[in-house]
Amino acid sequence: MSAEEIRKVAEIILDANFLIALTGAGISAESGIPTFRGKNGLWNKYRPEELATPQAFKRDPIKVWEWYRWRIGLVLKAKPNPGHIALAELEKLGFLKALITQNVDDLHERAGSRRVIKLHGNILEARCINCEYKTKFSEPPREIPPKCPVCSSLLRPNVVWFNEPLPEEALREALSLTYRADAILVVGTSGVVMPAGAIPFTVKERGGVVIEINISESAITPIVDIFLRGPAGKLLPAIIEELRKKY
Ligand code: OAD
Repeated sequence: MSAEEIRKVAEIILDANFLIALTGAGISAESGIPTFRGKNGLWNKYRPEELATPQAFKRDPIKVWEWYRWRIGLVLKAKPNPGHIALAELEKLGFLKALITQNVDDLHERAGSRRVIKLHGNILEARCINCEYKTKFSEPPREIPPKCPVCSSLLRPNVVWFNEPLPEEALREALSLTYRADAILVVGTSGVVMPAGAIPFTVKERGGVVIEINISESAITPIVDIFLRGPAGKLLPAIIEELRKKY
């Protein structure tokens, strides 16, 4: 990252009419939550088809819940890092209109971001597989697998698994924001999971500017206008600092 690149990004943000952000696991990596791909990625150690599909849950709900219980514990212990805080600040300052995240943690919300669209659900919630019951965890579930207090069926994590559609409302809102955006900040995502990974391409096709922050190149890098290489927790605060000098 150079000071010149940070200045350019600040200019784009100041010029944009409708800036949105798309985040992925990389933004929470500096809070101690593992990413999915890459050297220490979860999908290097675990098989998604055994832990993150409706079929896996049907076969072995205890195994699936054990993995989610561990991840719920990690999220509850984690704290928002300077990257999350800078994105919340960008919204408070009026520059960022909304944030679309693939993350199932609540670190954007805890950092103070208000308009957060969660495309892949919320790991701190569980829902009944049979009725409308939904609950929120303030500590990891003790009894595995947790059962519905209303109908005694199994509860499942309120997240999107492979082979499942995205939550309708979140998807609708994400699409409408994508069509309005004239600039997008893409932070810490490999960009390989659809439809989230297609969002920056749509913004670009419609004439918008794409800025990417990542420690390495992603599936989105070939179309970006500016690529800032480095940790989100360092680069996003640097952008805020630059913006503060300019207005
Ligand atoms: P990935 O694990 O695929 O990608 C994480 C990205 O973050 C990589 O491109 C890293 O280079 C980058 N990265 C790591 N640390 C970073 C840092 N400190 N600063 C900036 N970038 C950093 O995670 P996602 O793209 O979020 O889906 O994965 C998308 C979806 O795949 C997830 O939501 C999940 C997974 O399967 C479901 O579970 C449905």
